[in-house]
Formats: sequence, structure tokens, C-alpha cells
Amino acid sequence: AYVVTDACIKCKYTDCVEVCPVDCFREGPNFLAIDPDECIDCSLCVPECPVSAIYAEDDVPKDQQGFIALNAELAKNWPSIVERIDPLPDHADWADVKDKLPHLER
Ligand code: SF4
Ligand code: F3S
Repeated sequence: AYVVTDACIKCKYTDCVEVCPVDCFREGPNFLAIDPDECIDCSLCVPECPVSAIYAEDDVPKDQQGFIALNAELAKNWPSIVERIDPLPDHADWADVKDKLPHLER
């Protein structure tokens, strides 16, 4: 499955959800997760993300491996999102910030 990683936190651009053929994105307060049981590995979402937050599971950077299990866990509890919405209000301030996991809201 594909995996949403750190860069998405506090940005949530949601361009990714529009292209997913199986509607497997799930929405939390300041992050999206991909349901790994639904994702068909089409890769269409990857170039849509302005902050390059989405990776194939095999390509997730070493320091972000925890996001693989995190997507699976969060996707179970969050509702589906299939249409683009406005990014979070201060997305531009957070787009280049690293290690945003402490800011993740569930
Ligand atoms: Fe959806 Fe394809 Fe991205 Fe998986 S890889 S989340 S199926 S768009
Ligand atoms: Fe997040 Fe990028 Fe989608 S910031 S909401 S993974 S377009």
C-alpha cells in the first residue's frame, strides 16, 4: 500500500483524494491516512501532493517507517474523504517543517 508521511501533518492539501480510484483516503483533523486494505498501489496520488508526502510502502524513508503502521491504525477510525477541501489555514507555515509527528491530532 501507499503511505502518507510527515509532510502532510498540519498542511492537508487533499489534492490526493481526487485521483484515488478506490476512495481509500481517510481524514483526520490535520492529516490524511491511506487505508492499506483498500489501496491498490496505482500510484496516482503521489504526484498530486504539493509536499510529496506520499510514498510506496517499500520507499518510505527510514526515519518515517512508523507511518506505515500509523496509516493502518488511523485509517480504521477516520471517515472517508473523496473530494478536495481547502488546506489548513496555516499550511504554508508548516509545509517545509520536518518531524511534525508531535503535532498530529487524532
Ligand atoms: Fe489511492 Fe492509488 Fe494512492 Fe493507493 S496509490 S491511495 S489506490 S491513488
Ligand atoms: Fe496530505 Fe499531500 Fe494529500 S499534504 S492531504 S498527502 S495532497
